[in-house]
Amino acid sequence: MSETRGKFNSRIGFILAAAGSAVGLGNIWGFPTQAAENGGAAFVVMYLILAFCLAYPAFMAELIIGRHGQANAVESLRKISSNDAQRSFAFVVGFGGILCAGLLMSFYAIVAGWMLAFTAEPVTSLIGATEASTWLTTHGTTRNLIFTFIFTALTIFIISRGVADGIERWSKRLMPALVVLLISLTIYVLTLDGAMDGLKAYLIPDTSRLLDPQLIVSALGQAFFSLSLGTSVIIIYGSYVAKNENLVTLGASVTLIDVFIAFLAGLLIVPAMYVAQAQGVEIFKDGVLLSGDTLVLTVLPALFETMGNVGIIVSFAFFLLLSIASLTSSISMLEAPVSYTVERFKLPRSKATLIMGALIFTVSTIIIFNFSTLFGFVISLTTEYGQPIIGMLCCIFVGWIWHRSTLLEELKSGNEQIEHSLFWKVWPWYTKLVCPVAIALVFINSF
Ligand code: PFF
Repeated sequence: MSETRGKFNSRIGFILAAAGSAVGLGNIWGFPTQAAENGGAAFVVMYLILAFCLAYPAFMAELIIGRHGQANAVESLRKISSNDAQRSFAFVVGFGGILCAGLLMSFYAIVAGWMLAFTAEPVTSLIGATEASTWLTTHGTTRNLIFTFIFTALTIFIISRGVADGIERWSKRLMPALVVLLISLTIYVLTLDGAMDGLKAYLIPDTSRLLDPQLIVSALGQAFFSLSLGTSVIIIYGSYVAKNENLVTLGASVTLIDVFIAFLAGLLIVPAMYVAQAQGVEIFKDGVLLSGDTLVLTVLPALFETMGNVGIIVSFAFFLLLSIASLTSSISMLEAPVSYTVERFKLPRSKATLIMGALIFTVSTIIIFNFSTLFGFVISLTTEYGQPIIGMLCCIFVGWIWHRSTLLEELKSGNEQIEHSLFWKVWPWYTKLVCPVAIALVFINSF
């Protein structure tokens, strides 16, 4: 079977695909709004600490498991297990991650559908189709169903083409477009009135909030979500990496890109809020900064409207940016169950992709019809519980179950000198003890 498995054709292909998975709504929407809510730069500082000290080591654990296994998450975890109990545990963790990825995609596709609808709105507004514009930007079951369907279909299209022709090719096209759009929008917004107040709110830390438990929990959750941990996605992507690649620098590159894009998105969104305020748009409610969907779907569109014709272009570019970011993330979410189905049930990729895509769309439909009860529930189940728990279990696998000698052998492949590096001196112990304990502590704290 290994001959028919896909693989990334180049180092940059992997970096862009994994960064594509990591960079998504979490960076461009989640990170800036969380920073705005949680004391601005205090959140940014805590996020940077946790991203590098906890999320990066956990990312490495998943990447190495995948590259060693050269198979889907369940199989890769089984390969490092040495008895039946461990193999059952491997199934629970691997399958749990795949389930988490599928559930994540079911709500992510709904939000991404909103982004597509808001991308189409400037076009309808330009041609004077006011009713269509209102329909596109108003929360409604039909609109949600149609755009979730379109977004899921796009994801299915890319994933059915495979690793090199689908994931790698599209990540190479979409990621540079995303960076260009983000940088252009940031430069433009920073020239507008009020932007400097936003910059101050974003960059000057309210140090009294630095150790606020709520802030720490939010920052860790955000870091795990952003690096796509605990969903078996990094295990799968790792399994498509060639044996001569240096995993330590690959993982570091992806983490750096992810953190950099989140930081850059903060330079766009937080100042944009204060520009909106300077234009008379309300950005505080009861003294608290508006956030979440109100910010992206109400405050920013209100700002774009005050900009006249330029606003139409800015609005189109902004929601296109969010749509692209969502797509490169959702393809990784769909790849998790698809790779498992292909390898476990020996199904052709196109068939497996259709089945999994249809299953996920069915769950999205159930959520859309029971929006008020299910939407928030699925988000918190997957991002607050599923991802940190499974991420922690992957660290336990690497730290406590995997033999150190085979682990070292895997890391040496592509990095002969690793035995003498700081990484090898610190990371194994760190993953064994510090990561699980710290993740568990933060997690318990959240109760
Ligand atoms: N990292 C993505 C984001 O920041 O939006 C979300 C994500 C993608 C989470 C893939 C989990 C995943 F498996």
